Amino acid sequence: MSERAFIRYQGVEKAFGEHAVLRGVDLEVKEGETVVVLGGSGTGKSVLLKHTIGLLRPDAGQVWVEDEEVCSLGERGLSEIRKKVAMVFQAGALFDSMTVFENVAYALREHTDMSESEVGERVTEVLAQVEMPGVEELMPVELSGGMRKRVALARALALKPRALLYDEPTTGLDPLTGHAINTLIRNLQKSLKVTSIVVTHDILSARMIADRIAWLRDGRMAFVGTLAEAASSGHEELRRFLETGGGIGESRRP
Ligand SMILES: Nc1ncnc2c1ncn2[C@@H]1O[C@H](COP(=O)(O)OP(=O)(O)OP(=O)(O)O)[C@@H](O)[C@H]1O
Ligand SMILES: [Mg+2]
Repeated sequence: MSERAFIRYQGVEKAFGEHAVLRGVDLEVKEGETVVVLGGSGTGKSVLLKHTIGLLRPDAGQVWVEDEEVCSLGERGLSEIRKKVAMVFQAGALFDSMTVFENVAYALREHTDMSESEVGERVTEVLAQVEMPGVEELMPVELSGGMRKRVALARALALKPRALLYDEPTTGLDPLTGHAINTLIRNLQKSLKVTSIVVTHDILSARMIADRIAWLRDGRMAFVGTLAEAASSGHEELRRFLETGGGIGESRRP
């Protein structure tokens, strides 16, 4: 891991109508680092991730990816950012009318001038990376939840991003499948050295993959540090969140 920040949020504020969701988020994610963002349901974790690639724009504050300020970029600049920083969406967000192959190939066809045979090779390669070889011709409806997450991850990896944003990669999966996804995330960190931000309610995930955690509460990062630091910090609510697996006092999605 380097000491250089790869992604940096500075005083990010975002409201929807009267509802102030982010109220000044500060966070630095270093190159090669994995930061796990924890927080109750509806605290703005997905909203924060979307700011990173310009899917949402802040009311105030700045988001930096390396030396570029995302909020000031136009469509062309954002398109470059999205090649560098790929997001694995909460629900997978596969195109249901396309095969797995077409889903994974989509960004390659849109954003590169690779030939069809190069596209085919890259699709095979990323499906192997997520341990899903040979599923190219399946349709998304034929996939289990765990398989969908892997295909969504393969799609995010296709363009060789330098950073990955994962929105609840293990939510809704049985513990074994969730564990397999966490192992995969950890292996990708090690082999590809991608910078990662992982949003999760899953404390076991955090324990497996986090270099540091960031605790989003009341629109700000109420704590940023290692899990060991969190356990010994005076943060009673965070400590309870960690001990109970995130279920305390929060309405959670079924
Ligand atoms: N496009 C939008 N328009 C209006 N409100 C929004 C929009 N996106 C998010 N919100 C609101 O912002 C708040 C935070 O939403 P967000 O999806 O970031 O929560 P979250 O922390 O990811 O929760 P969960 O853990 O349940 O996924 C919610 O109250 C949500 O209703
Ligand atoms: Mg969310």
